Amino acid sequence: MSKLTWRMAREPGLTPGEPGGLGGSVATAGSGGVSQGPPASIEAVRGAGLSKGYGEGDRRVQVLAGLDISVQQGEMLAVVGPSGVGKSTLLHLLGLLDRPDAGTLELFGTDVGSLSAAGRARWRNRRTGFVFQFHALLPEFTLEENVAMPMLIGGTPMREALAAARDLLTAVGLEPRRDHFPDQLSGGEQQRGAVARALVAGPELLLADEPTGNLDAANAESVFEVLRTLHVSRGLTSVIVTHNEALAGRCDRILRLAGAASGEACSRT
Ligand SMILES: Nc1ncnc2c1ncn2[C@@H]1O[C@H](COP(=O)(O)OP(=O)(O)OP(=O)(O)O)[C@@H](O)[C@H]1O
Ligand SMILES: [Mg+2]
Repeated sequence: MSKLTWRMAREPGLTPGEPGGLGGSVATAGSGGVSQGPPASIEAVRGAGLSKGYGEGDRRVQVLAGLDISVQQGEMLAVVGPSGVGKSTLLHLLGLLDRPDAGTLELFGTDVGSLSAAGRARWRNRRTGFVFQFHALLPEFTLEENVAMPMLIGGTPMREALAAARDLLTAVGLEPRRDHFPDQLSGGEQQRGAVARALVAGPELLLADEPTGNLDAANAESVFEVLRTLHVSRGLTSVIVTHNEALAGRCDRILRLAGAASGEACSRT
């Protein structure tokens, strides 16, 4: 058994053919019909009254309290705010990595709160791409294998997954490094590899949590440029958490979190 096959066999809840899938309630953007005039803007993310806290009693921390958030399809939204304000918490809710204590969340017209655990896992694997501050590439696999991993976990045959990985590696300028292991790459290259991995399975929603937070200015620029280019070319909806005001200002809009329930959306000027 190859290392890749071994890894897939051990991955819980993400094997193909699992019951409790997404069902038929997914609204697809721009489907059917004769369009007249510019297409209506479609809400990719609609969160209403989202609340989330941690702990009990005296140790309870209320992080989000009744936050409303809306992201249009094709929009690149920056989320900024002081440390501890709940940026990662919000991203975890949007990525179905965690559930809100209260409030509703619709993604692309689907009430994701009503999905089963298996349906949520499948949604994460197929429809959401994640990039974190630390690349989390697996050290025992080549860059190409790392990038192919989400497709393999989703049940795509090896040959097809590796071909898709090569396409993405070309898009992020790393195709010549495909046979290298993560520790043979620079920090910026590792993070561009992480972006390729996030997008290989063709998600509609890209969630990035301080994707440039660990990089120097030049590498931060190259990673942001790759994110922005792929956001446009792949028609993504993106939510980018960042402490970098300059990069936030290059997104379409900025959501400023300033404390529980005080999220304020500011248009880019
Ligand atoms: N699992 C958890 N258990 C208890 N408290 C938590 C947990 N996760 C987050 N918190 C707390 O919730 C608050 C918000 O955390 P979060 O990670 O969302 O902040 P952030 O805005 O992303 O901060 P940073 O900019 O430092 O990454 C913090 O006070 C944090 O300590
Ligand atoms: Mg955070």
